[in-house]
Amino acid sequence: METYFKIRINSLHPDRPLTFDLYLLLNNRFVLYLREGSALELEKINTFEKRAPDSFYVKETDRKKYKSYISTQLNDEKLGIREKATILKESTFSLIEEMFENPDLKTALNNAKQAVDDIIGFMNSEDAAMSELLGLSSHDFYTYNHSLDVCIYSIGLGQVAGISDPELLKQLGRGGFFHDIGKRYVPTDVITKKGSLSDEEWEIMKLHPGYGLKILENFPEATDEIRACVYEHHENFLGNGYPQGLKGEDIHPLARIVAICDTYDALTTKRSYNEPMSPTQALDLMTHKISARFEPALLRAFHETLFKIK
Ligand SMILES: [Fe+2]
Ligand SMILES: [Fe+2]
Repeated sequence: METYFKIRINSLHPDRPLTFDLYLLLNNRFVLYLREGSALELEKINTFEKRAPDSFYVKETDRKKYKSYISTQLNDEKLGIREKATILKESTFSLIEEMFENPDLKTALNNAKQAVDDIIGFMNSEDAAMSELLGLSSHDFYTYNHSLDVCIYSIGLGQVAGISDPELLKQLGRGGFFHDIGKRYVPTDVITKKGSLSDEEWEIMKLHPGYGLKILENFPEATDEIRACVYEHHENFLGNGYPQGLKGEDIHPLARIVAICDTYDALTTKRSYNEPMSPTQALDLMTHKISARFEPALLRAFHETLFKIK
């Protein structure tokens, strides 16, 4: 049976010929909407974005063609940085969705892994790339946005903190991208609960690093660095974190980076039930009240990272 994967309409650039067939899902059937070689008009993109953002699909056998279409747009000198950031973010979002929802986790994780390479490439291409990516608004689930944001912040902080080995930086980006993958197994009503969690719900929530580690067991490509980011991002630098209560140097260096970015993004992102803190408020809280959670040198480097974004 033919399989299809979902794409975001905004990952396509108007008036550029498609290099794959585009399908619509209508009444549970895949219907050919545009043939390879034809282009989608801007007006149609805008209409679909409002009415049916979730109904575009590409054949799984054309996955490579879609990917190289995205790469071509990202390398196109005629496109502006905002347009490129949108294409990158929208194409990455479908991968995050797969990562959290696709039963075929192996494929989803493999595809997600490559998305991180594109993100690093884009961030290295222009100084303003990082703030463009972070600045684009999105109406998606908090966890999806959060995964992408933590990935982006982690790469930025890693670079400021002096990680120059490109391979290590990739591992860090992937670690950020996957850090909350264990939330796949936390019940949705706990994840999306408005207001604070009960003690019992907290205990369930705290299982997500362990769940994440378990998920990665079936994914041989997951390196020790990625595993550490997933399993150790809620450890505190001075101890008392979870799940292991590790301290200082015993926490993997990349997990220490993800921990800072994770907290900052959680504090500054608007969720349905809370008002987000301003960057200054969040940094102030992290530097004073809850500073014990973070490695001091990294926290200083994070100030610098945010300064670069502004
Ligand atoms: Fe987490
Ligand atoms: Fe997180």
